[in-house]
Amino acid sequence: MSYLEFDPSTVGPRQVYRLLTGAVVPRPIGWASTVNGKGVTNLAPFSFFTVVCVIPPMISLTIARNPDGTEKHTLKNVRETGEFCFNVVTQPVWKEMVDSANAIPEDDSEFENTGLTPIPSVKIKAPRVKEVPIHFECKLHQVIELGPNRHPLVIGEVVYMHVDPACMTNGYIDMKKLDPIGRLNGFLYMTLGEIMHREFEDGQAR
Ligand SMILES: Cc1cc2nc3c(=O)[nH]c(=O)nc-3n(C[C@H](O)[C@H](O)[C@H](O)COP(=O)(O)O)c2cc1C
Repeated sequence: MSYLEFDPSTVGPRQVYRLLTGAVVPRPIGWASTVNGKGVTNLAPFSFFTVVCVIPPMISLTIARNPDGTEKHTLKNVRETGEFCFNVVTQPVWKEMVDSANAIPEDDSEFENTGLTPIPSVKIKAPRVKEVPIHFECKLHQVIELGPNRHPLVIGEVVYMHVDPACMTNGYIDMKKLDPIGRLNGFLYMTLGEIMHREFEDGQAR
């Protein structure tokens, strides 16, 4: 078979972005809620997002700089307050999630623009999204600036977890009840398809 070949050092950033976001799929979405020092709440999705550690529990978001080098509101708020909340994106609110990525002035809140409801957290000031069943309250652990454009990789320690029992079965988060949304490439998103089950030979969990 002959493959198309690409050298990221020569094909240009747009093509590299298309290849990365087309190949690393489906991506979970870190829907981050924050608040700034003036009390303005913010909500934005980030799909360069994953879990990085269990003890202590940590998750990461890459919050790219704006083309002019300035920082997105989420990152500014995380730096200012040292906190953010991760909200799981579920099917009933996937459109609101997309709309929360629209660029709006710093003094306006995506909660108001999308009609979503901010509810208080326990250990942090950043609010949670009432309409979704899982929230992880996070304290900033570290911001690592990557590459020549210093794109910030934000690592947060999960200090408190909220899970609606309606999306659990026998102590596990139940994928069908949760109904999570993933990001594909371009403007494409997905719900769960067929769910497969296969155990290891020794039957142990890994
Ligand atoms: C599903 C989805 C995933 C996104 N993932 C990222 C991401 O990983 N990193 C990023 O910098 N921007 C990402 N964006 C764009 C930001 O959400 C967008 O720039 C947003 O306006 C930032 O808001 P803020 O300035 O209030 O922080 C994504 C947008 C969508 C719709």
